[in-house]
Amino acid sequence: MKKILISLLALTMALPSMGQGDVYEKSKTYEWPTDPQVVDKLKNWQDLKFGVLMHWGVYSVPGMVESWAICDEDWVTRDTTMTYQQYKEWYWGLADKFNPVKFNPDQWASVMRDAGMRYMIFTTKHHDGFCLFDSKYTDYTIARHAFRDNPKRDVLKHVLQSFRDKGFMIGEYFSKPDWHSQDYWWDVYPTKRGRNVNYDIKKWPWRWEAFKKYTYDQMEEVLTRYGKVDIFWLDGGWVCKENNQDIDLPKIATMARSHQPGLIIVDRTIHGPYENYRTPERTIPETQLDTPWESCIPLTNDWGWVPRPTWKSPAKVINTLIEVVAKGGNLVLGVGPTPEGLIEPEAVQRLEAIGRWLNKNGQALYNTTITPHYNEGRLWFTASKDGKKCYALYALPDGEQLPATLSWTGNKPKSVRLLATGRKLKAQKQGNRTTVSLPKGLKNEPIALELSL
Ligand code: GLC
Repeated sequence: MKKILISLLALTMALPSMGQGDVYEKSKTYEWPTDPQVVDKLKNWQDLKFGVLMHWGVYSVPGMVESWAICDEDWVTRDTTMTYQQYKEWYWGLADKFNPVKFNPDQWASVMRDAGMRYMIFTTKHHDGFCLFDSKYTDYTIARHAFRDNPKRDVLKHVLQSFRDKGFMIGEYFSKPDWHSQDYWWDVYPTKRGRNVNYDIKKWPWRWEAFKKYTYDQMEEVLTRYGKVDIFWLDGGWVCKENNQDIDLPKIATMARSHQPGLIIVDRTIHGPYENYRTPERTIPETQLDTPWESCIPLTNDWGWVPRPTWKSPAKVINTLIEVVAKGGNLVLGVGPTPEGLIEPEAVQRLEAIGRWLNKNGQALYNTTITPHYNEGRLWFTASKDGKKCYALYALPDGEQLPATLSWTGNKPKSVRLLATGRKLKAQKQGNRTTVSLPKGLKNEPIALELSL
């Protein structure tokens, strides 16, 4: 994160040095979509609260950070026994080793459904340009390498279908930058501009036009050949008009919504009409926000699968979800399938524990709305949409005990129940303060109270 922050900082610092005339006036505030179908879909999406963001690609084979190792920015570390050129060749060659013989998207979808997740976003193509779908416009796809003889080689189709069958809202991650494309990183020049296009677009306008067309065409493929898509999640914010890498988002959006009416478009970090929700990465906003947003946070420290990762505990994820929802957002949890094509047991076990908790307490989160007094210490509050109930959720960190009583001001209840069991709890009221004694013997995990107002 720190590295990415530094790079983002470097990018922002670089912006003022570009000719003023080139600077695109971007909105500072969130822009509500005006298309009624988009507005509706966005509202539905906001009710879901919890989703999964799945990164899968050639980087999963050695289990390393997604795509970034081939980027020549200073913060990237790589095997020092190879030259940069050799390293890139090794990386491109991973496509011939990516043969997920156990590929089982039904397992992925069952695990995520049982974890209480209700929407999904899958990497159709990451920055390295490797496509998880059978593209007409490049050979650099899973369907034309080691996995080509498998009946499920058009991976995207099977992944989306499995999740759709289980009632998920469907999202496609698509990286605007493509480091494999000769029209983005042209081998004639070194990649001295880091993550950016490596040639001068003004000098080679036809090459940039070719890149725009390639991007547009591939986007059209993933939006027409794989059934209904609800969210189009565009990563690589540096490919944008204000950074002199305009790929014509208005044109893309028109095409996209002509195929997928009401599509939620998330042109990440590019505030304006095509960022239908904001996406704070690995972080939660300081305060409640009443515009749509989603924190993306991985279950380990990495987006893709890595060997022996550092796991976040179920309680950590639940506490994060509680805070996110009380602040008005959604949480999309990063989980990377193994190079063989499964969700590994260590992940399943954690996700199951999250699901068990949500099964008992989900009513305090799904389909709720924000309430003005939303936080007091470890207590977070949400409200039912009919205004008849509030929920008080106690975020309990690992290794700590539940207190004997919970006490808060405001959100004054007529009665209080422990949501998981339905048991009525005695509430003492003193002025604006309510105090509730918790039953003895509760499991040390986050809890939810239902407050009738
Ligand atoms: C960042 C990274 C990218 C990752 C994404 C997930 O933008 O550049 O590798 O896919 O975060 O949120």
